[in-house]
Amino acid sequence: MKPEILNHLPGTHPWQNLIHWYEAIDSTNTLAKRMIAQGAPHGTVIIADRQTQGRGRMGRSFQSPAGFGVYLSVILRYNCHPEALMHLTCAAAVAMCDAVEQAASLRPGIKWTNDLVHNGRKLGGILTELVISETETAAIVGIGINCNQASADFSPDIRDFAGSLSMATGNNILRPRLIASMLRSLYDMDLHLFSCKDILLECYREDCITLGKEVSIVRGEEIRHGHALAVADDGGLVVKFSDGNTETVSSGEVSVRGMYGYV
Ligand code: BTN
Repeated sequence: MKPEILNHLPGTHPWQNLIHWYEAIDSTNTLAKRMIAQGAPHGTVIIADRQTQGRGRMGRSFQSPAGFGVYLSVILRYNCHPEALMHLTCAAAVAMCDAVEQAASLRPGIKWTNDLVHNGRKLGGILTELVISETETAAIVGIGINCNQASADFSPDIRDFAGSLSMATGNNILRPRLIASMLRSLYDMDLHLFSCKDILLECYREDCITLGKEVSIVRGEEIRHGHALAVADDGGLVVKFSDGNTETVSSGEVSVRGMYGYV
């Protein structure tokens, strides 16, 4: 798979010698954490054909069977405080919409904060994790995209709301081409992360299908209903709740459901 990925990347791509490919691994994000501790450089990319313990936000698992999807993490090391990276997941989500649009001719929507969706189904997600030290903040941006699954390939508990790019487009997806496209988009995102923050957030708001919708905000056992008004500059979701209060909720604390379905 790695030679095929390189075939789709320009020979000058700065990350081309930093790609690590594995047949099977627990989680590309978990390995990235270990590699950060060992000094892996900015731009290190870890890709697996299969994950045995693929992870999503809020302790959920991410189904990662062999041959069907893309499971990829990139290590980005920054000399900044963690607060300066609050918009990183939003920027990565836009970059992934760009990459999918280029490789599969379909632009997904973004369900706040980190899900790629199309026609009410989740096509993939992003798990950003930070490793903070006194001298730097290292970010792991982990992305999972369902490429060639049919509905029956998803386990029954997620079958009603999981989808794949091939289900959405009717086409078989060339994973090396998509991966190369993802790497190009992630590289560009990294280049512009701080200098173009406002533009990246504007793009996120355009792709975010949660805005303007009635939503249920789930925090532990508590569920509150409201209307999604805006995405704040730190990536938080501004919600007007049915009790009249307007609050900004952060992705680390809550998950969002549409009032009448997943999206
Ligand atoms: C979510 O659905 O909440 C995010 C899913 C993120 C999955 C990707 S797959 C590559 C990387 N490794 C993981 O264990 N998780 C992310």
